[in-house]
Amino acid sequence: MILEKNILNYINSKATYEFDPYYIYDSQKIKDKCRMFQNIAYENKSIHFASMANINPQFLEIVKAEKMNIFVNSLLHLEAVYKVGFRDREIIFTSSALSEKMMKRIESYGAQVNLDSPNQLKLWSKLFPDKSVGIRCNIGDKVTPYSTHAGVFLGKDSRLGFTTDEIEQIADRSNIKGLHLYVGTDIFDINYFINCYQELIKIAVDFPNLEYLNLGGGFGISEKGEKQFDFSEYNILVTKLMNEVSSQKGRSIKLILEPGRIIGGDAGYFVCNVTDIKNRPHKRLVGVNASTVQFSRPLLYPDTANHPVIIIRDGVQLISNETHATTIYGCSTYSRDIFSNKAALPDVKMGDIIVFVNAGSYAASSHMLFLGFPKPNEYFI
Ligand SMILES: Cc1ncc(COP(=O)(O)O)c(C=O)c1O
Repeated sequence: MILEKNILNYINSKATYEFDPYYIYDSQKIKDKCRMFQNIAYENKSIHFASMANINPQFLEIVKAEKMNIFVNSLLHLEAVYKVGFRDREIIFTSSALSEKMMKRIESYGAQVNLDSPNQLKLWSKLFPDKSVGIRCNIGDKVTPYSTHAGVFLGKDSRLGFTTDEIEQIADRSNIKGLHLYVGTDIFDINYFINCYQELIKIAVDFPNLEYLNLGGGFGISEKGEKQFDFSEYNILVTKLMNEVSSQKGRSIKLILEPGRIIGGDAGYFVCNVTDIKNRPHKRLVGVNASTVQFSRPLLYPDTANHPVIIIRDGVQLISNETHATTIYGCSTYSRDIFSNKAALPDVKMGDIIVFVNAGSYAASSHMLFLGFPKPNEYFI
């Protein structure tokens, strides 16, 4: 994998003897992904960036300037996006197990809310009898749920959403304006998306006041850029589907999407440098001046979060056919502070710069205070 020239130049410009680990983002890549969604042919649509993937204000400003709306799942994120200027229906709030206090707080922002269970709907109807709402649908008994690196999001093994039985039992549907679905994350199989959407559409028939279908996110990004989500095919199929629902309903139904990972995943890079090397009989251990609490995907998903690694030495990307099985570890005392257990790296030297690729989503936003390492700076070019 070859590092783009603009990123390499930036990294070199910051390559002082001892720099702190940081993130760098290619803003143009973020914009391109936003445009991909805005170019979906179906007109009555609203695209909400899933802010859990990246809550940095500069990132949010970029997506806002691209006319994206926003999706949040917590009060802190709601406040963060509010500060950037998102308002009312531009904000979708979907979460679970909301307390009465929290429901009131969320409602006061005027965000569009999707509820997770019959009890939550009961509470909402008691608090806001005249206010419309959406429900999150777990149609997993109608499809074979995909098992993703983050678990399953549909079916009996998922904790989320109304089951189809629970949906059937909703007596008063007059205030339900939207059906929400989240099929899973990092998925490339367009047929799976469409099959799930079709099941949701079957349910939509029984909701007389339906205004929108929220089809969530889940769009895959590949590790080394070897596979691309087939967006043009997706565009055709989702547009066809939405046209069908609208003609079935006799009015235009809004399409809502909540893409997260795909928007900034490949735009972000995590940069640190080599501060120790240990040779063990079966592998080489390379220590860096960063901890996985600063770049947490390898900590949260140790077996499945694979981020390609690029080495820079003296300003140039090191490319070699001869590689060694290498573990890259963090600078704490925590035994699981490991960025990668299966990197195949050339001979690394002290001071080499290490760049983890595909670090733009669910990376900086999952910084933890555990272990005591600061949140890395984030730069946008
Ligand atoms: C309800 C919902 N919508 C959208 C997203 C964004 O998903 P992704 O990053 O897979 O596109 C998530 C992520 O967890 C989610 O829970």
